[in-house]
Amino acid sequence: MCGIVCYVGPRDTKSVLIEGLKQLEYRGYDSAGIAVQHGNQIACHRAVGKIVELEKKLAGLDITGESGIAHTRWATHGAPTEENAHPHRDEKENVFVIHNGIIENYHTLRKRLQQEGVHFRSETDTEVLAHLIAHYYDGSLSEAVRKTMGQVEGTFGIAVIHRNEPGRVVVARRGSPLIIGLSDGSRFAASDVSAMVRYTNQVIHLQDNELAVLTKDDVSISTAQAVSVKRDVETVEWRGEDIELSGFPHFMLKEIYEQPNTIENAMRGRLEPAEGVPKLGGIMPVWDRLKDCRHLVIVACGTSFYAGCVGRYVFEKLTEIDVQVELASEFRYRKLNFPHNTFILALSQSGETADTLAAIKEAKRKGASLLGIVNVVGSSIARETDAGVYNHAGPEIGVASTKIFTSQLTILTLLALLLGRHQNLSLTDGVEAIRALKQVPEQIKAIFAQANHIEAIAENYYHCSNWLFLGRKYNYPIAMEGALKLKEISYIHAEGYPAGEMKHGPIALVNPEMPTVAIVPQDDMYEKMISNIQEVKSRRGPVIAIATQGDAKIRELVDEVIEVPPTLSFLNPLLTVIPCQLLAYYCAKFLNRDIDQPRNLAKSVTVE
Ligand code: AGP
Ligand code: GLU
Repeated sequence: MCGIVCYVGPRDTKSVLIEGLKQLEYRGYDSAGIAVQHGNQIACHRAVGKIVELEKKLAGLDITGESGIAHTRWATHGAPTEENAHPHRDEKENVFVIHNGIIENYHTLRKRLQQEGVHFRSETDTEVLAHLIAHYYDGSLSEAVRKTMGQVEGTFGIAVIHRNEPGRVVVARRGSPLIIGLSDGSRFAASDVSAMVRYTNQVIHLQDNELAVLTKDDVSISTAQAVSVKRDVETVEWRGEDIELSGFPHFMLKEIYEQPNTIENAMRGRLEPAEGVPKLGGIMPVWDRLKDCRHLVIVACGTSFYAGCVGRYVFEKLTEIDVQVELASEFRYRKLNFPHNTFILALSQSGETADTLAAIKEAKRKGASLLGIVNVVGSSIARETDAGVYNHAGPEIGVASTKIFTSQLTILTLLALLLGRHQNLSLTDGVEAIRALKQVPEQIKAIFAQANHIEAIAENYYHCSNWLFLGRKYNYPIAMEGALKLKEISYIHAEGYPAGEMKHGPIALVNPEMPTVAIVPQDDMYEKMISNIQEVKSRRGPVIAIATQGDAKIRELVDEVIEVPPTLSFLNPLLTVIPCQLLAYYCAKFLNRDIDQPRNLAKSVTVE
């Protein structure tokens, strides 16, 4: 979902900007552009398609400068063409602007500007910004941007340079993230920290309706009302190697294999094994209310929503709390009547998903208290909540979420355990849960040992056009997540279904060309899952079982078996999801898909 990179300083501006855009590629885009300023000269180039197309245009050109801006566009207004690509300019080509978001009143602004004689060159909403800033420019770019902010409705993260103000970049945001990076003699700004993490880990999170002026050794922040603001500099944990492939063919595979570490990171410093009680410092600001909470609403999108669906079963197992899970894009339009002391729990890797952010703002308006489980520190959702827990999982570059899903499950389990141990959960059960949780990283490594076997299964079935994933109780959401993983990176049609629903329709689909992935660990749903498997097999449907290590019975019934080590029933999803991730990965590999940047998808869906 588009990207912004800005730089001011002594480094090779063009290289810093292009490398920064490459770190944002995973967000999804359709065109790219760059503007580099040297004195009062600005070189501007744009290209449709991947960044490599822009690089071809820049090859051989002597483009140097002390500052610049660069953009990857995910078109909302106007087709992905060179003319619609950013940076956009005013007619005199003094102002160059790049923009993430949507200017919702651009029609009105465009008409007004056209009546004043302005000629537009693109179909985009963004172009109005360039003409407005030029209109207001009276010797101060920051004041012209500030006045423009006052005219604009909608969302924006913008960066602007002006021919008359070399060595200066003005950035501003409302509803679209912008992070400022600081290092000796250089200043950066970008949509997310991965664009600058190879140069600095010192960042400032610009907040809504704020503007910042960047020069090579200063950042001055103020509000839309020109009130000066002091923002703390934060240290991000991410390191340069976090955004490198480190020998893996794709970020998705790297992040699948990171899961033993990221699950350990989610637990690090948060366990008291002897007491069977986790420690979650991030929720202590609301603990007095949270410990008596009896109604929890989990709100999320996509994979994070499926993590919430597992979380509901875990909370029901470990606590007395009534839990509902809601799709954020639907929840925000519901008539919301919350029982007293309701907590909303937002799950979001990016912390910028527009639907989830809108949903929790609506819930807050209706009096609910907000918790968050978020991976990106300082993100919009993290800042909107009253308290929360960070995943500390490092950047997730692959568009398909993998390591964050299991990190979310881990933290949800810790939260349920903490609340349960303040309700009816016994010391013995708490100690047992923590013991089993601590074994999970090693158990996941045992599944990795079957990678070749899983790859061979994928090779046998990747040509099939339709797949079915079945699971019950804790593993019903894993069936949904497994289907989503396959869909989003291999483009194979797949459906996840609660196995109990087979007889209510989906069984009509069963045929020899449609593999069924049956998630059937030895838990209290085992016998019922066996019946469902037999229903599929009796109609000649091939079955790939994800089953508990040593289960001899399942081998007699199905076509393929992928084993997971035994654990407590509510921890099974941490293990059964791994084969689903690897099956999706290998099918996409055999189909030569763009695994880290699947078509049409963005890593962070910051538009509704
Ligand atoms: C997951 O593989 C998808 N890329 C997508 O469903 C994602 O989980 C969803 O957009 C939510 O993103 P968030 O966790 O950053 O809010
Ligand atoms: N709405 C702008 C356009 O369509 C910006 C889109 C984006 O965020 O990349 O050009």
